[in-house]
Amino acid sequence: HPALSLQLPELSKVSVLMRQRNKVENTLRAMQHAGPGTLQVISDFDMTLSRFAHHGKRAPTTHNILDHRLLIDEDCACNMRKLLKIYYPIEIDPSLTSEQKIPLMVEWWTKVHHLLIQQKIQRDMLAQAVQESGVILREGYEVFFDRLAELQVPLLIFSAGVGDILEEVVRQSQVFHPNVHVISNYMDFDANGVLRGFKGPLIHTFNKREGALLLAAPLPELRERPNVLLLGDSLGDLAMADGVARPHNLLTVGFLNDQVEERAESYVEAFDIVLVKDESMEVPNALLKFIT
Ligand code: C5P
Ligand code: MG
Repeated sequence: HPALSLQLPELSKVSVLMRQRNKVENTLRAMQHAGPGTLQVISDFDMTLSRFAHHGKRAPTTHNILDHRLLIDEDCACNMRKLLKIYYPIEIDPSLTSEQKIPLMVEWWTKVHHLLIQQKIQRDMLAQAVQESGVILREGYEVFFDRLAELQVPLLIFSAGVGDILEEVVRQSQVFHPNVHVISNYMDFDANGVLRGFKGPLIHTFNKREGALLLAAPLPELRERPNVLLLGDSLGDLAMADGVARPHNLLTVGFLNDQVEERAESYVEAFDIVLVKDESMEVPNALLKFIT
C-alpha cells in the first residue's frame, strides 16, 4: 500500500521483518480509526525498553545493575555471572520449548534471588547503583514515554526483572509519568531497609501469561482498552497481552537482539513486526505517531 509506505517509511528499513505486511497495515489502520482512547501499550523492559548493547558493549539488565560493589560482594557477583553463563543460553535456545525451559528459568531466578537476599542489600543504595550503571534505555525513549503520557494512553511495563531497579531507571530517565504501570519482581525490605525476600509470585520470562491474568487483567485503566501495541524481545513476552478482556486489534513488535540467524524464523512467525539489531525506539515511535 503506497500511501501507508509514505507515512511509515520506517517499516521499509532492511532491519524490519514482517510475515504479513498486509495484516500489519490493516491493524494499524483499524487502531488509527479507533483512536488513542481505545489503545494500551504493553511492553517488556529488559532488552526491549532498555538496550541490548551500547557502543558494542552489552547493556545491563535490571538484575545485572545489582552487580555493583555497593550492593553485593565480589563472590556473589561471580556466582551470578556463572549462573548467567549457564541459564541465559537456555533462555534463548531456539531448539527448546518453553515447557522445557520453564523449570530451568525458575531455578535460575530462585538461585539468584537467594544469592541477593544473603547480601543484605540496602534499599538506600539502589539509586546510586542505577545512576552509575550508565545509559540504558533505547534511543528515542523520551518521545515514546512522553507521547503516551500526553495522549493518556496507559503503558504497562511487564518485566521478569527487578521492579525496584526498573522503577529507578524509569524515574532517573525522567519518564515515570502517571500513565505508567509496572508489573515485576519487587524486593521486600525489612523495617531497616534491608532486603529480606521478594514479594508476590515469581515472574520469569516464560510465565507472563499467569502474571497477565492475575496482575494485569484487574487493572481498571487497562480493562476497557481493546487495542494493544505489544513490545518484547522474547517469545515469552507475547503472553503479556493474555489478560486483555476483549482484544480487538493486537499488534506485536519483537526486538531480535541476539542469535539473529538462529531465531529469525521463529520471531517472524510469532511477532507481526521483527526489529533486527535495532537499538532504537524509531519504529515503535513511528507506529504510535501513525496510530494517534
Ligand atoms: O524485563 P524482562 O522480562 O525482559 O526481564 C528478564 C530478563 O532479565 C531476561 O531476559 C533475562 O535474560 C534477564 N535476567 C538476568 N539475570 C538474571 C535473571 C534474568 O539478566 N539473574
Ligand atoms: Mg526482555
